Amino acid sequence: MDSLSFSPTSSSFLLHHHHHNPHVSRPACHVRVASSSPPSSVAVPLSSSPVVPKEKEKEKEKEKERMVVSSESLQYESGFLGGVSERTCVGAEGAAEAMGYLTDILSSRVYDVAFESPLQLAAKLSLRLDVNVWLKREDLQPVFSFKLRGAYNMMAKLSQEQLKRGVICSSAGNHAQGVALAAQKLGCNAVIAMPTTTPEIKWKSVERLGARVVLVGDSYDEAQSYAKKRAEQDGFTFIPPFDHPDVITGQGTVGMEVIRQLKGPLHAIFVPVGGGGLIAGIAAYVKRVRPEVKIIGVEPSDANAMALSLYHGERIMLEQVGGFADGVAVKEVGRETFRICRELVDGVVLVSRDAICASIKDMFEEKRSILEPAGALSLAGAEAYCKYYGLKGETVVAITSGANMNFDRLRLVTELADVGRKREAVLATFLPEENGSFRRFCELIGSINITELKYRYTSRKEEALVLYRQCWSS
Ligand SMILES: Cc1ncc(COP(=O)(O)O)c(C=O)c1O
Repeated sequence: MDSLSFSPTSSSFLLHHHHHNPHVSRPACHVRVASSSPPSSVAVPLSSSPVVPKEKEKEKEKEKERMVVSSESLQYESGFLGGVSERTCVGAEGAAEAMGYLTDILSSRVYDVAFESPLQLAAKLSLRLDVNVWLKREDLQPVFSFKLRGAYNMMAKLSQEQLKRGVICSSAGNHAQGVALAAQKLGCNAVIAMPTTTPEIKWKSVERLGARVVLVGDSYDEAQSYAKKRAEQDGFTFIPPFDHPDVITGQGTVGMEVIRQLKGPLHAIFVPVGGGGLIAGIAAYVKRVRPEVKIIGVEPSDANAMALSLYHGERIMLEQVGGFADGVAVKEVGRETFRICRELVDGVVLVSRDAICASIKDMFEEKRSILEPAGALSLAGAEAYCKYYGLKGETVVAITSGANMNFDRLRLVTELADVGRKREAVLATFLPEENGSFRRFCELIGSINITELKYRYTSRKEEALVLYRQCWSS
C-alpha cells in the first residue's frame, strides 16, 4: 500500500546503485549522518582550477554512457541535507560566466509578462516551527507558475526572423502554458507537443492561449523527440523547459526578487527541483550577492535525479520516476543546470508524497490557496529540514512554484495529508474467514481510534483483508 510510507527512524541511509555496464558496478555503502547541526554554506568557489573549454567538455559528456540508477539507491531521512559528495564542489570553471548570469538576470525582460510575486510570511507554520517561514508566491503568476519567466526570457531574445518562423516545445504542463503565453505576447506562432495522456484541462488551457497543440506519443520523451524533429524540419525554434542559459536566467529573477524583498539575515532558500532550471537560476544570482544564504533543492524521494547526480558527481538517468509531483518528474537533469548546481547548491532534501500533501494542506490553512504537488514541494522540504536540524529563530524562504492542480487529485491529497502530518496511519492486516475473528480483531485493537475501515475478501477466500486508518488526534 502506497500510503504506508513511513520514513526510516535511524540516522543512517543506504546507497547502492547499478550501472549500465555490469563491470563498472560499485559496492553498496552505508553512510552515517555525523551531525545534526545545519551544515555550513557552500562557499562561492574562487577557482584556480584549469578552465576546460566548453566544447571539449560537451564532447566528453556525449561520449560517456549515462549511468542508469534507481531512485531507491539514494534515500536518506526526510530533512537531511544530502545529495552532496566530495566530488560535488569541483570549483568554478569560469567566474566570468557566473557574472554573466548575474548581469543577465538583472537586465532580464521577464516583467513584460510576469510580475514581482509577493513574499508572504506563513504565520501558522512559523509559529509551529519557531522559524520564520516566508513564501515566495510564484503560484500567483499569470499562468499559475514561474515557468513563463524562463520561456519569455528566451523568446524575447529571438530575432524577428526566428519569431516569424515560430517556436515549438514539448511539455505536459506548466512550460507549455509559459511558452504559449510568451508567444501570445510576442505575436509569434507556437506549436506545443504534449503526450496523448495529457488531461484535457491542460491542453485546452494551452489552446486558449492561442498555441497549436499536437497530442503525440504516450510519454514526455516521445513528445520531445517529435518537437525536436519538427523544429529541424520546419525551422521552428525549440524552447527547452530548463536546460538553456536564457531559461535559467529568466527563472533566476525569482532569486533576485527574494533578495530585494527580504531584508535581514536569511538561513536558506528552498527550491523545488525538476530539471534544475529554477534552482540554477536562483543559485546563480543569490550565491554571488549573498553567498552565506544556503540554496537547498527539494525533490520527491521517488524523483531524485538531482540528488543522485550531485552524489555521483555526474548526470545520471533515473530508471523510473515517480509522477505524483508531475511538475518535477524528470528522469535526467539538464547539462547546464547540473553544472551550475554542482558548484553552487548546498544540497538536496528529499520528501515523501505524504509530506507534500501535508504541505498542500498547510498552504490551504495559511492562505486559502491550493498548490499543485510540485508547487508545495519546497514547503515540505523546508519543514522537514527545520525539524531535522532543530532550527529555531532563523528565517527561511520556500518557493511555492505552481498551482496547476488537477482537480481530480484533490481527493488523494486530502486523504494523504494527515498521514503526512503523522496524525493518521493507514494499516492493513489479514483475518481468517471464520466466525468470531472480526470480534477478536476489535478486541486486539482495543482503544485505538479508528476513522475508516475496509473489509475485503482476498482471492484465497479463507482470509479477509482489513484496511483501517488509525488517528492520533481529532
Ligand atoms: C510547479 C513547478 N515547480 C517546479 C518545477 C521545476 O522546475 P525546474 O525544471 O526548472 O527544476 C516545475 C517545472 O516545470 C514546475 O512546473
